Amino acid sequence: MSNILGSATGRVVLGENLSILHDLPDECVDLIYVDPPFNTGKRQALRRIKTVRDSEGDRTGFQGQRYRTIKVGNTSYLDVFDDYLAFLEPRLEEFKRVLRTTGSLYFHVDYREVHYCKVLLDAIFGRECYLNEVIWAYDYGARTTKKWPPKHDNILVYVKDAERYFFDMDAVERIPYMAPGLVGPEKAARGKSPTDTWWNTIVPSNGKERTGYPTQKPLGILRRIVQASSPPGGIVADFFAGSGTAGAACLELHRKFLMVDNQLEAAQVMARRFAGQLEIEYVGFTPGEGQQPDALVGDSSAPASWDDTVDGQGDSDGTRQQALFADR
Ligand SMILES: C[S@@+](CC[C@H](N)C(=O)[O-])C[C@H]1O[C@@H](n2cnc3c(N)ncnc32)[C@H](O)[C@@H]1O
Repeated sequence: MSNILGSATGRVVLGENLSILHDLPDECVDLIYVDPPFNTGKRQALRRIKTVRDSEGDRTGFQGQRYRTIKVGNTSYLDVFDDYLAFLEPRLEEFKRVLRTTGSLYFHVDYREVHYCKVLLDAIFGRECYLNEVIWAYDYGARTTKKWPPKHDNILVYVKDAERYFFDMDAVERIPYMAPGLVGPEKAARGKSPTDTWWNTIVPSNGKERTGYPTQKPLGILRRIVQASSPPGGIVADFFAGSGTAGAACLELHRKFLMVDNQLEAAQVMARRFAGQLEIEYVGFTPGEGQQPDALVGDSSAPASWDDTVDGQGDSDGTRQQALFADR
């Protein structure tokens, strides 16, 4: 079993995640959580299909590999997904490689992308390794009256090996019964296990956990993921780490962590967040150097999907298209 962190408890790396993944050995991480931005920075010519590697696929490609064709439509709107999937695919393949046999991937995404990502993840991990779709439900911002206001994110959970994965429900903090009067006092005091639907507020704008990083996710969500799907002392990695919420959960819960982000702002936010903690290594940057304090001030009270706050946006208007490219 390789220890990729040496004697460190945590490591924050500034760098492009794919090249860092390439340098990691096989089967070295217990849990991967990622919350990739919907923003690959490139847009290709319109294509109508997407192919993913699949031994039972309908096409033969390079070196006799079989591929399955996925129709992604013929509008530029859908083509945005095509680019996104092309960006994700090599990274997802690496995630699978670096996960231990008992490991899990939590892939955080929003309602517009989740179905495309599910198909891609099924092709890479196998349908039998799909464990759950966790719904993170929150209540924030204005409510459109033109459709059901979207107020949730999706977290797809895959395991590397459907027979051997680690999952410890007993380690997960219990939640109160909705109607405690209907269960005995003992049960009511103990609370119940959470299901696949998690109600959790977004990061409060005046809360202690707020870092100022615009896409910061709540610690409560990461705490639950780390509790259930990594063993005490295990290694947790986030290759789109942002403000390092996964690392913060690991510090509380005594797991080791590897946080990777390709933006100096994110790396510096993490360095500030973990300041004072012993045995944390910073790679590719010097904490406190080269940052522009103003650039670090974001609005972490914003929801995961930026356009949710704008009432009545239509799917076909320019504003929505912009929102699709926005980092969540
Ligand atoms: C949505 S944010 C993650 C927020 C994080 N979950 C949190 O709680 O703060 C996505 C992050 O991925 C980073 N990122 C995007 N592309 C990347 C890449 N190719 N390599 C490394 N990091 C990347 C962005 O800089 C951004 O900080």
